Amino acid sequence: MYKNMAVLYDELMDDIDYKEWYLYIEKLLDKFSKEPKKILEMACGTGNLSYYLAMNGYDLTCFDISSDMLSMAYNKLNQFNNIRLIEQNMIDFKINEKFDAIISICDSINYILDEEDLLSVFRNVKKHLHKDGIFIFDINSHYKLKNIIGNNTFIEDRGTIYYTWQNYFDNSENIGEFYLTFFIADEYGRYRRIDEEHLQKAYQIEEIRELLEKAGFSTVYCFDEFTFNKPGEQSERINFVALG
Ligand SMILES: C[S@@+](CC[C@H](N)C(=O)[O-])C[C@H]1O[C@@H](n2cnc3c(N)ncnc32)[C@H](O)[C@@H]1O
Repeated sequence: MYKNMAVLYDELMDDIDYKEWYLYIEKLLDKFSKEPKKILEMACGTGNLSYYLAMNGYDLTCFDISSDMLSMAYNKLNQFNNIRLIEQNMIDFKINEKFDAIISICDSINYILDEEDLLSVFRNVKKHLHKDGIFIFDINSHYKLKNIIGNNTFIEDRGTIYYTWQNYFDNSENIGEFYLTFFIADEYGRYRRIDEEHLQKAYQIEEIRELLEKAGFSTVYCFDEFTFNKPGEQSERINFVALG
């Protein structure tokens, strides 16, 4: 669960180019001949993609389960009047509207740990999409969660933030456990400690495809990250597009 770490999120993600990510989404919309007006972004976090979507004029609704992440998003997005932010859970969200596109990026879907819950997410998405709508999301691949993040520890000293990220991969449940500890320096050089635990489920492409079809999507495409290529065995991020 993203709590105290929310204030550090943007700094920790500074290697991710959200503008490029936004442009990739535009390319996907183009490829599938979609020109959405109303977009729902699920698990928007601190609003990094939302910022580009709002700036480019979409009528945007964003939600996240974490009020801490949403308050960071609010600071970034309250300059726009074509956006609303709400606190909801992907598993049972209810918005009395339908959308032309529903988007969720940056492995938010891996936070759904149980297949039944993931089916509820997908059914809910289907319910909130117009008939010819498009659903775009990505996952951290099974390969990445098991072999790259896996049973590894990462340590980084960024000057004012020092952190350790210890990971375990549970082979029986296919769940990556991440234990993060941050030490953040204040203006007097004193360090405050923040601990967070995150769990991500490692799904196989076929499992996701099956659940999407069960939820009523008739066509499912998947691509290796930020391309239109088929994912390979060592793809780290897999983008899905579900239609129909
Ligand atoms: C890795 S962050 C990605 C945030 C954002 N999409 C981005 O690109 O920066 C994962 C996000 O998923 C949210 N999340 C996790 N489980 C959720 C759920 N069940 N419903 C809604 N949001 C959820 C977290 O609070 C967090 O903001």
